[in-house]
Amino acid sequence: MSDPQLVLAARVQAAIVDAFGVEFAHTDPVIRPSQFADLQANAALPLAKRLRERPRDVADEIVKRLDVEGVCSSVEVSGPGFINLTLADEWIARQATPLLADGARAGVPLTDRPEIIPVDYSAPNVAKEMHVGHLRTTVVGDAFCRAAEFRGHKVIRQNHIGDWGTPFGMLIEHLLDIGEEEAAAELQSDPNRFYQAARAKFDASDKGENDSDFAKRARKRVVLLQSGDEATLTIWRRMVDMSKVYFNRIYAELDVTLSDADLAGESRYNNMLGAVCDDLYEQGIAVVDDGALCVFLDGFTGREGKPVPLIIRKSDGGYGYATTDLAALRHRAQDLHADRVVYVIGAPQGLHLRMVFETVRKAGWLGRTEPFHAAIGNVLGTDGKILRTRSGAPIRLAQLLAEAVERAAKVIEDRGYDAETRAEIAQAVGIGAVKYADLSVARDSEYVFDFDRMIALTGNTGPYLQYASARIRSIFRLAGSSPEAVVSTPITITHPAERALVLHLLGFGAAIDAMVEDVAPHKLASYLYGVADALTGFYENCPVVKGPDGPVPEEVRTPRLAICALALNTLVTGLGLLGITVPERM
Ligand code: ARG
Repeated sequence: MSDPQLVLAARVQAAIVDAFGVEFAHTDPVIRPSQFADLQANAALPLAKRLRERPRDVADEIVKRLDVEGVCSSVEVSGPGFINLTLADEWIARQATPLLADGARAGVPLTDRPEIIPVDYSAPNVAKEMHVGHLRTTVVGDAFCRAAEFRGHKVIRQNHIGDWGTPFGMLIEHLLDIGEEEAAAELQSDPNRFYQAARAKFDASDKGENDSDFAKRARKRVVLLQSGDEATLTIWRRMVDMSKVYFNRIYAELDVTLSDADLAGESRYNNMLGAVCDDLYEQGIAVVDDGALCVFLDGFTGREGKPVPLIIRKSDGGYGYATTDLAALRHRAQDLHADRVVYVIGAPQGLHLRMVFETVRKAGWLGRTEPFHAAIGNVLGTDGKILRTRSGAPIRLAQLLAEAVERAAKVIEDRGYDAETRAEIAQAVGIGAVKYADLSVARDSEYVFDFDRMIALTGNTGPYLQYASARIRSIFRLAGSSPEAVVSTPITITHPAERALVLHLLGFGAAIDAMVEDVAPHKLASYLYGVADALTGFYENCPVVKGPDGPVPEEVRTPRLAICALALNTLVTGLGLLGITVPERM
């Protein structure tokens, strides 16, 4: 255990038990960062209430029994009863040394309580463009999966793509009209064009604006599809495959971990929908209302207190989005044995998900499974409105990413790299910038998509953190050394700036835990930004290779290189958990 918060929490807890008895064994020691020391323990205040004593006396009592020999250099009671704790430099250094030897894991252990966690994220729709909303759920979901797996949880990626429903009648007919080859070309590069052409044809035909029978054919096709007509299913499968090519291209560009094996689209649940409805009806949870089968739940009311229904079977017998989600959650709870199910989905779908969760709970299908909506906020344009092109059309994701890479190419300095290296750096920096901008904001708040800000080399940006890592590597080159060469060097602390950096590096595991706990990548992002910040202070005060008075002597240089190596591991591993690659040079 190297996390100072955990270490001190355990020690303070032991002192509390020692002072006041075992009945206080579960008292929260309330360890917080402190302005006056490294950390403070605030447990004396709530304890004093329980004990009907003065908080200061309680604090004194705890301090008297507190064993922090070798851990803290000073312990002081201040104010009404705060216990200020300052860690000893040697203790900090001693904790850090094994982290360095641990390599890429940087001392972060595997959890001793692994959970099974299906993660529903990305979920684009067949024959439609992925938009920035999908960008965000994809990037946040993927980062969460990486971090949860790193901690040893069993993650099951569930890409709940929209691959079923009434529009598929018109989409299949349109595909047949224009031919497979043409359809494939469009679906793989510009799916919206395909979708909109189908939609326009359907609407015109439906309104009788032309004499085509397109609308009629489309409706017939839906019936064929739903009744399992083999020929229709074959064309449908072909269409889904064409879209997969498009999704996979974006995923490769974004460097996310989703593959075809993770596809669990809406159609997967088709054969469960009937049973879901029957069971809910038999349990009396679903009732027929105006011909449709609906679930009404307490506390879900709309305008004028009218109950909002969750429609699970339409009056024409068709199932919809909600029924599929009920079946999916039941499957995840009962067949995948999930401990938690994480839904990384736009905040506007919050009501839908709450109703789905509540229905499944009420039906008794949930067991010990905890569903969780990791709500995603909107991405806005610089005008503060939902991000769109100048002409008002939704932004095409492929184009957006290409532009990011193009702009990144202009930002990186020309250090005489060959064309291939330049392209690799631009790719890592451009995509890293977009992903970091997304991940560094609390996932449920909105943010403004602003290329200039996200690609800047200064401030809380991806490129800044990538640069911080590249700079460490260049220090090693300058020193004629390598991170591997110093792995077993003991870390020492000789300056407050070193101390601040190393102490911050001890908090890596806690930052990852906070991210996994709340599906909050921004907590890891802001931690890593703190590493880069502490590095700046370190460089200013602690020359590694060459100082103002000439070359730094070997006995100072090597332990400083060890600190650099630990910082590098932490940055590279941490950015990797956010799905961001770090170029060797920048
Ligand atoms: N395909 C949907 C969309 O594009 C998102 C699906 C989210 N997942 C779910 N289980 N409902 O909006």
